[in-house]
Amino acid sequence: MKIAVLGVGTVGSGVFNVIQENQAKIQEILGEPLTITYALDRRQAEDLDVDTTHVTVTDNIEEIYNSDVDVVVETMGGLHPAGDFIATLLSKGKHVVTANKDLLANRIDELVAIANEHNTLLLYEASVGGGIPLLNAVETGLAANQITSLTGILNGTSNYILSKMDFDHWSYEQALQEAQVAGFAEADPTNDVEGYDVQFKIAVLSRLAFGLSIDADQIQVSGISNINSRDVEIGNDMGLTVKLIAKGDWLGEDRVSIQVAPMMLTQASPLANVHYAQNGAVIQGNAVGQTALFGPGAGSMETASAIVSDVMQIAKRRYRPKNFTTTRQARMQIDERPLNYYVRFKREASKQTAEILEALGLSKDQIKIKKSGVALVLDMALELRRELEANDQLAAIYQIEGEL
Ligand code: HSE
Repeated sequence: MKIAVLGVGTVGSGVFNVIQENQAKIQEILGEPLTITYALDRRQAEDLDVDTTHVTVTDNIEEIYNSDVDVVVETMGGLHPAGDFIATLLSKGKHVVTANKDLLANRIDELVAIANEHNTLLLYEASVGGGIPLLNAVETGLAANQITSLTGILNGTSNYILSKMDFDHWSYEQALQEAQVAGFAEADPTNDVEGYDVQFKIAVLSRLAFGLSIDADQIQVSGISNINSRDVEIGNDMGLTVKLIAKGDWLGEDRVSIQVAPMMLTQASPLANVHYAQNGAVIQGNAVGQTALFGPGAGSMETASAIVSDVMQIAKRRYRPKNFTTTRQARMQIDERPLNYYVRFKREASKQTAEILEALGLSKDQIKIKKSGVALVLDMALELRRELEANDQLAAIYQIEGEL
């Protein structure tokens, strides 16, 4: 099967390398080799960091539109021009594999409709959780379930920063710089640290898991840039780990609650030991109960593993192309179930911690004072959480994930 690769950067070169390294096994499974015959890149063939012996390198997408390739791998990233390239390719009978979460979160329903109309496939395993086969697990392995919740660490950069701050006492800035050097941060790391990258990923994952179209703009998002290292340290002493968490909950029929926020994990959470650039997700299904997947959320060969596996699926499914589609739009709601929280008050109010909390109507049993100004609050209703957030003496509040 003939392939074109759009963008020979970190992930695009991984695609070349995985195919080259595992060609014998691929051929054994498919009965044919995978051959990259075109690459789209502004650079000349000799400037690319891969073997381009039998590859036509061009900066003109028309050449690829008009070529005889069966599958196009899009590893350019960004909304433009990647989105229009993909739409045109699908309509010209080319199957597409993409890692582009920004684009999918914005245009997946439209692109899938184009693909279905033209009997082409659009696969995107690499867009969420890098090399972890998360989308396949949800779409295929857990298809018999009503998925009731998803909880994930889906951004390697922010997880790396938090782990470095926590274990190695690095500053936020130093850790971010290292993540950029290591190559897993986005070109502009704002999306990584402000939670937008996770917002795109949980939108794509929730669509498959809950079978509903998701408006990514309705997801509540907060990132890690405002985390105070004091809370990381205090949490640590209490056995709680701060992580940037994506949470999707099915609330019945077409109702879902989706949020991205830093939360504190207890050691009982399967995600508490997912550190550095690793990603992980815990999926709750009504038949299977709880399942979890962990692994590399970014990286060249790691992400290419998911891409080339998608290309191999296309080789098997291309004669009966059918993409996952949704028929209903999700109604986004706020999950109002009571939750456990870590709260910290400003120094001047620390002596009144219990009084402030009791004044909200919380009972003594719900309040566990841990140290001056810091408490765990159990089963707090959303309404009270909102009141507490409005209190000008509050310094920090984190939802707690995992049994205490
Ligand atoms: N910047 C992303 C991350 C890359 O750090 O997880 C993979 O999507």
